[in-house]
Amino acid sequence: MVIARRRPVLFLTPSSWLLAMLSVSVFTYLECALCGKTHPWQELQNVCKECGRPLLARYLIAPEQAANFKQSLPEGSRSVWRYREMLPVPADQETLTLGEGGTPLLPAPHLAAHCGSQRLWIKDESQNPTGSFKARGMAIAVTMAKYLGAEKLAAPSAGNAAAALAAYAARAGLPAYLFVPKDTPRANIIECQTMGAHVTLVDGLITDCGREIALRKEREGWFDLSTLKEPYRVEGKKTLGYEIAEQLGWKLPDVIIYPTGGGTGLIGMWKAFAEMADAGWINRDLPRMVAVQATGCQPIVSAFKTNRRFAEEHFNAATKAAGLRVPKAIGDFLILDAIHESRGAAVAVSDDEMLAASREIGCLEGIFVAPEGGACYAALKNLRASGHIQPTESVVLFNTGSGLKYLECFEN
Ligand SMILES: Cc1ncc(COP(=O)(O)O)c(C=O)c1O
Ligand SMILES: [Zn+2]
Repeated sequence: MVIARRRPVLFLTPSSWLLAMLSVSVFTYLECALCGKTHPWQELQNVCKECGRPLLARYLIAPEQAANFKQSLPEGSRSVWRYREMLPVPADQETLTLGEGGTPLLPAPHLAAHCGSQRLWIKDESQNPTGSFKARGMAIAVTMAKYLGAEKLAAPSAGNAAAALAAYAARAGLPAYLFVPKDTPRANIIECQTMGAHVTLVDGLITDCGREIALRKEREGWFDLSTLKEPYRVEGKKTLGYEIAEQLGWKLPDVIIYPTGGGTGLIGMWKAFAEMADAGWINRDLPRMVAVQATGCQPIVSAFKTNRRFAEEHFNAATKAAGLRVPKAIGDFLILDAIHESRGAAVAVSDDEMLAASREIGCLEGIFVAPEGGACYAALKNLRASGHIQPTESVVLFNTGSGLKYLECFEN
C-alpha cells in the first residue's frame, strides 16, 4: 500500500482502511501544497486555512488493485471518467459529463520534419466539450461542488474556463456567475450567455476578476471555482497525464510543452505522474516539463530565469493568447518546482511567433489551434534551435483549445 505523499498512514480511519483493502485508491484528505496542513475533503474547501495556498487531493493507493485496474482498462470508451478510480468523486456519486477527455494524441509528421524533431505529437484538446481542455477540470470540480452542497458557482476566467463552467453548471442545474475581462474573445462571452450564465465584463485582467469575486462571494453565497483556489479542477486536468501515458503505451515522452497561464494542467500532469509511479503504472523516468508563456505576460519565465520559487506579478500583461494573460498564479511554486524537478524549461514567445506557428500547424497538420497551441510549437522551434531538445527526443505539444474561439486573432 503506498500513500501518495508524506502523511502517516495512521491518519486513516478504520473504515477507510477497510475500503483501502478493496479499492484501487482511497481519497484520504486534502493537503496544502506549500505548508502540508491537512484539510478534510468531506466539506467544501477553497485554499489552505493556514497559508492560503492550493490544496491537493491525496490518495492511498493499493498497488496490487491498481495493477489489476490498469490491466482491465478497456479498449474504446475514453473520457476523464475512465480513470475514476484515481479521481475524488465517491463511487456512489453521479458524475456530470458532456463527453470530456479522451482526446486524440495526434502524430504531427509534417511539423516534425519542419522543425527537425523525429517523434512529435499534438494532444488535441480542442476536441473537448466547449472547445478546450477546461472541460476536464470543470467536469470534476462542478461534480464535487454539487456533491458537497454548493448552490451558486462563481469563477474568474480568461474565457475558456468560463465557457466550461457555464456548461457544467447548466448540466448540474446550478447558477454560474462568471467574471471575465471585457476584451475576452467574443465567442466565449456569447457561449456563456447562451448557456444561461451570469456574465460580468470587467475592465481589467483575470486577477481583477478574481478580486471582484473574493470581495462579493461571502455576501452572494458563491462557491469560488477559481483555478487552484478549489482542489478539483486540477484533478480533472491531471487526466491529461493519465491519457498521454496510456496513449504512448505507458511510456512517457521525453518532453512535454505546455502553454502556461495558471499552470493547472502542468501541475495536474506532474501530480498524475507521481500517482502513476506510486501505482506502479509507469517508471520514474519522467518528461522534462516546459512551460510556455507570452513575452507580454511571462511571470513564470522571469522567475525561472532568476531562479526564484515564487513569481512576481507581471504588470501591464498583454497578449492575444487570452489563456496566457495571467499576471500572477497562486500555484506558481508548483509550476516552478515541476520544471526544476524535471530539468525542464520556461520560455516566452511573441504573439507574432505564436500566430505564425498556429497557421503552420493548420496548414501542415489540419488542426485549427488556439494561439496557446501555436505558442507550444513556436517554443519547440526555439528549443530545437538552442539544442535543449534533440532531434531523436519524443515531444508532446499541447493544443489546449480551438482556434474557432479566437477568430479576432486570425482575421487578416
Ligand atoms: C486555450 C488555453 N490554453 C492555456 C490556458 C492556460 O491554462 P492553465 O491555467 O492550465 O495554465 C488557458 C487558460 O485559460 C486556455 O484557455
Ligand atoms: Zn498551507
